[in-house]
Amino acid sequence: MTPPRQNPRALFIVLEGIDGSGTTTQLARLAGHLRARDRQVLSTCEPSRGPVGQLLREILLGEHKSTSGAPVDGRAMALLFAADRCDHLAREIEPALVAGVDVLSDRYVWSSLAYQSVEADRLWVEKLAEGIRVPDLTVFLDVSLEVAAERRRSAGRPIERYDGDGTLARVADNYRRIASEAARWGAVAVLDGAGTAAEVERQIAAEVARIIERDGAPS
Ligand code: TYD
Repeated sequence: MTPPRQNPRALFIVLEGIDGSGTTTQLARLAGHLRARDRQVLSTCEPSRGPVGQLLREILLGEHKSTSGAPVDGRAMALLFAADRCDHLAREIEPALVAGVDVLSDRYVWSSLAYQSVEADRLWVEKLAEGIRVPDLTVFLDVSLEVAAERRRSAGRPIERYDGDGTLARVADNYRRIASEAARWGAVAVLDGAGTAAEVERQIAAEVARIIERDGAPS
């Protein structure tokens, strides 16, 4: 069997949306789609699998409260997510791109802009994101709060720090605002995430094919 050829130019693609929007499902489908086209792919996520990411996952599940029971401070969360991103870039994303491997990430900078702005000053959160590598494409899966809540319920997902309806409504508004400022945060595709997994997969594949064509590379 011939080994997969090196990608003409490795792509960095991010999937974003509120909890239950389908980013994890679609990331796996997109990875399969690209591999079937003979591209090498690294599937990753944030919080990352690195040390800061591990700590964040514990905090998201309600650990590390203060002795009075207060959750970790919102500004501290913003700094931790930013630190995790630097570590993730250095540890996984940059080496893969240099090696010609496409990187697909379930969440990245937009998550910080959308979620941490609920608990910390938005302009300060934006400052933390300055100078961070811009993806080739951010796909924002826009779904209603109701659809997302039903998907979380049926997947039996544990309730995490940001899963309250009031919080997620603000996060969803933030995502839509960021999408409207797209040029600032790189190329974006805003897709209706409420369709079937196969429908959404086709739309994402079409967006990615456009980027590959733009690069003049065979898809
Ligand atoms: P999620 O992506 O749903 O992962 P899992 O399927 O493992 O639960 O959860 C990650 C949570 O972290 C989600 O609520 C969004 C939040 N988050 C932020 O608040 N800021 C960030 O920068 C990132 C990457 C995630």
